[in-house]
Parts: sequence; C-alpha cells; structure tokens
Amino acid sequence: MAFWILFLVGSLLPPAAADPPNIILIFADDMGYGDLGCYGHPTSHTPNLDRMAARGLRFTDFYTNGAVCSPSRAGLLTGRYQTRSGVYPGVFYPSSRGGLPLSEVTIAEVLQPRGYVTAMVGKWHLGLGLNGTFLPTRQGFQHFLGVPYSHDQGPCQHLVCFPPDTPCVGTCDLGEALLPLFLQEKIVQQPVNFTELVSLYQDFSKVFIRAAVHEQKPFFLYYASHHTHYPQFAGARYSGRSPRGRYGDALLELDGAVGELLDTVWASGVQNNTLVIFTSDNGPETMRMERGGSSGLLKCGKSTTYEGGLREPAIAYWEGRIQPGVTAELASTLDILPTLAALAGAALPNITLDGSDLSRLLLHGDTSPRTTVHYYPPSPDPERGIYALRLGRYKAHFYTQGAFHSETTPDADCHVTARLTAHDPPLLFDLHTDPAENYDLLKRGVPQDLVPLLNKMLQERDQFQRSMGYAESQTDKGKDPVLRPCCNPQCTPKPSCCRCEVGGTP
Ligand SMILES: *[C@@H]1O[C@H](CO)[C@@H](O)[C@H](O)[C@H]1NC(C)=O
Ligand SMILES: *[C@@H]1O[C@H](CO)[C@@H](O)[C@H](O)[C@H]1NC(C)=O
Ligand SMILES: *[C@@H]1O[C@H](CO)[C@@H](O)[C@H](O)[C@H]1NC(C)=O
Ligand SMILES: *[C@@H]1O[C@H](CO)[C@@H](O)[C@H](O)[C@H]1NC(C)=O
Repeated sequence: MAFWILFLVGSLLPPAAADPPNIILIFADDMGYGDLGCYGHPTSHTPNLDRMAARGLRFTDFYTNGAVCSPSRAGLLTGRYQTRSGVYPGVFYPSSRGGLPLSEVTIAEVLQPRGYVTAMVGKWHLGLGLNGTFLPTRQGFQHFLGVPYSHDQGPCQHLVCFPPDTPCVGTCDLGEALLPLFLQEKIVQQPVNFTELVSLYQDFSKVFIRAAVHEQKPFFLYYASHHTHYPQFAGARYSGRSPRGRYGDALLELDGAVGELLDTVWASGVQNNTLVIFTSDNGPETMRMERGGSSGLLKCGKSTTYEGGLREPAIAYWEGRIQPGVTAELASTLDILPTLAALAGAALPNITLDGSDLSRLLLHGDTSPRTTVHYYPPSPDPERGIYALRLGRYKAHFYTQGAFHSETTPDADCHVTARLTAHDPPLLFDLHTDPAENYDLLKRGVPQDLVPLLNKMLQERDQFQRSMGYAESQTDKGKDPVLRPCCNPQCTPKPSCCRCEVGGTP
C-alpha cells in the first residue's frame, strides 16, 4: 500500500518543477543523418557537436515529422503533426498569405507561464503575413533576430558570401524579395549579408543568455540555423577551412556557433542546469550534389518518406544530468514539447498532442514511450494518409515516391521519375537488420510468420488515420506580392528597391 502511495505521489510531481532548466534548442537545416563527424562522416569537421555527443545522449533512431522545412518546424514547435496545424502541403513563400495559426501553442508559449524568458534566432519559415502577423514575436518568443523563410527564397545573386562582395554560389528564386533580416518585427538589413549573419546571431544569443542568467530567470533559446541549407555560405573565419568544400565550411560555422553557445553556458556557470538539444529539420537535399549533404547509410533524402528523408542526427546534452551514451530508442521532434514541459514543470496545452514525454529516457535511461513513427510526405492527403509506418524495428511502406530534392544519387527510387506507387501488401523492412531499406521481407509474398505483424501494422495505421485531423491548409492560401517584406515600403520599383544597411542590430 505504502509503495503505491509513494508511486502515485512521485508520478504526479513534475520532475524538475523546483528548478526549471534553461533550454537551448538547436535546429539545423537540410542536414542528413550522415553529415556529422559523430555520425560517421569522414571529412566533416564538427568538433563541438562531437564533444556534445560524447558528453550527452546521441540518438540513432530519431525522426522529424516533416520531410521539408515548414511542416517540420510546425511539428517541432507545437508537438503536433503538420496536418493538425494546416502547415501542408509544401512550405511557405515570401508572399504567402498563410502561416502557423496563432491559435497553435508553441514551446515558447508553454514555457513562458513558468517564468521563462524566450528568444529565437535564425530561420523561422512559419509565415510572415501582413505586418508580421505570423512572426515568432506573435508565437511566444519575446526576442527575435532572424529571417522569415529559407535564404534561397530570394535572388541569391544578392546574397553576399565570402570573400566580401562575391555572390554566393547557387541559383535561387528570382523575382522574390531580397532576403530581409528582422529584429523583432522590424527589418534591420536587406539583403542579408551572409558573411556577418552568424556573428550577429552569436552576439544576440550570448547577450540573451547572459541577461537571463543575470536576472536569474530560466531561458529558452530556439536557435534555428540556416546551415547547412543550400546555397551554402560561411563567414571569414570558416570559409575555405573545411576539406569538405562549401558544404563543409557551412557545417564548420554551425559547429563553431554551437561551441560558442556551450562556452557561454559554461562561462555563465549554468551548465549544470542547461539542457541543449540538437537535431535537424529534414533529410539532405541530394539534388545539390556534393553540396547536398548526406543521409549516410540511409536511403534517399529530403522530401521522401524513406529513412533518409526523416531520420535525423539528434543529441541531448545536460552536464551532470544526462548520462553520456548512445541510444537506439525511438524519438521524434514531436516529443520535444511534452518533454520540455515535463522538465520545466509547465502545463501542457489543452489540445491533441502527438508526442510523448521522454524525460525519463533522458534522465534515467528508461525505454522510450514511443513505439511508432508515422511518415508523411510533403503533401499529405487525407485519402492516402501516411506513406509509411514504423512499429518497433519494422517499417511498412504503403506508398513510395521519389522527389526532385532527392535527385542525383545512383538510387533511381529516390528520383522524381519514381512516381507515386501504392503497395499492397506494403513493402516491409526490418530496420535493425536492414537500416538501408534494401531487402523487402514481402518480396515473394507474405510469409505466414509475418501475418500477425502485418495485421498489427495495418490496424495501427487505420487507427492513426481515424484519429488524425486535417486542418485547413495554410500553405494553399495563395500569395500576395504586397506581403513581400520590404524595409522601405514606399520605394519603387519593388522588389529590387528594398535595400537597407544594418540598422539597429543589438
Ligand atoms: C499594417 O501596417 C500599416 C503601416 O503601419 C498600417 O497602415 C496598416 O493599417 C496595417 N494593417 C493591418 C491590417 O494591421
Ligand atoms: C558584409 O559584411 C562583411 C563583414 O562584416 C563586410 O566586410 C562587408 O563589407 C559587408 N558587405 C556589404 C555589402 O555590406
Ligand atoms: C556542477 O556540478 C558538479 C558536479 O555535481 C559540481 O562539481 C560543480 O561545482 C557544479 N558547477 C556549478 C557551476 O554549479
Ligand atoms: C479542454 O478543452 C475541452 C474542449 O475544448 C474543454 O471541454 C475542456 O473544458 C478543457 N479543459 C480544460 C482543463 O481547460
């Protein structure tokens, strides 16, 4: 009896309620499963992320919910599938009318009532809207320095790379607005000067961390890097420094930024009370060839529902609290909101969440409460539902489709020419023995011993599908050129006249 009372009392207490930890959530862009040194890449130099992995928990089976930018960011920040928030199909553009609905509750909004100060730096990509309606400042972030969407969504011949005044190498969306840098809701630079962008982000982040520590308030910093998205760039300190070329330089700059954030945490003396999480939004854009990133041994990349599209590097580091190691437990970006809420002792929003609290996995090495992964393509459709399902070690593909973003590798299944194909029975892979999805277990029919597993997977899919809500699409609301950001709203001709030098950067 006493045991049960203790158990109940224990389970009702939020784990770290007395002392909410500081949180730094670092989100890389288009980085693949095989891109970090600590995930086996031979020519990537990532000493700081490798050190974070060595002192923290490195995940081998960590997934994002979205195979492209906007839906994966929506899932990360809300703990809900993109279908529920309407952040599908595809992504937001500079003049998109839609955005992440303000009714959605972000991690920042969950943590603020617990006394957190909140900030975001980097790439938002969840909408801009008229007068900044959808910017992070409207979604619980008290401080914001960053760019509203991807940096190739503007004419990249105006994106300055290093050495100064050389255009970045690449082709981007012509005819759109020059890329703006926002401080709060004001454009402070347009177009962005990439050679100094990361140092501005670093200064902003350090000031934010030090101020929060000084005020003795817990902080939440969402650091959404543009690295290693195409076109790759790096400042003077990192350009030409990596054996892996421009991609390697961009990665080196990201790694250097992570090192500086960790140094700031240590120098502020709050390392024992700061959780740092690192992961990426979706798989590599292999169509960019040697600058496209790597999914390592996994199949295909960005925009596909093969493992390379959605399985990501992930590291959780908390000095003295998280036991260093490697885990093969299942985890997802969708789990981050409920996990942080539990660690902070913050109340969960009263809405349907799709993630699980992983705090006991992080702090006590428990098994993960997550047993399934649901794979949505970039354009989810309520009729088809998920394209694939992972249950434990097994993955079933009900549909497969290649993608433009996953072009150029020798595997033709990844290419845009690999049309949407329904599979009944599904393709079935054992990801423990065959992580590369090479050997379909049902190739020669369904063996008797796999019938119960298959039935269970079909049942799980149908049940998931019945429970799923598909909100009105926010990305399909169309575009309006008036919404293109311009630092100088009265100027003509737009968008080329929208140019401003660094204004009031922090
Ligand atoms: C947007 O901002 C402009 C200029 O500040 C203002 O005139 C306009 O009323 C605003 N529109 C809305 C819908 O708030
Ligand atoms: C971009 O920033 C770099 C580094 O601060 C500077 O040297 C360069 O002049 C800037 N370029 C432009 C076009 O402002
Ligand atoms: C952090 O924890 C370690 C081990 O418990 C302790 O030795 C150290 O003094 C702590 N550091 C700070 C800055 O509190
Ligand atoms: C949660 O939301 C439901 C439906 O919107 C409502 O009926 C219920 O009262 C809410 N619960 C709390 C605790 O706010």
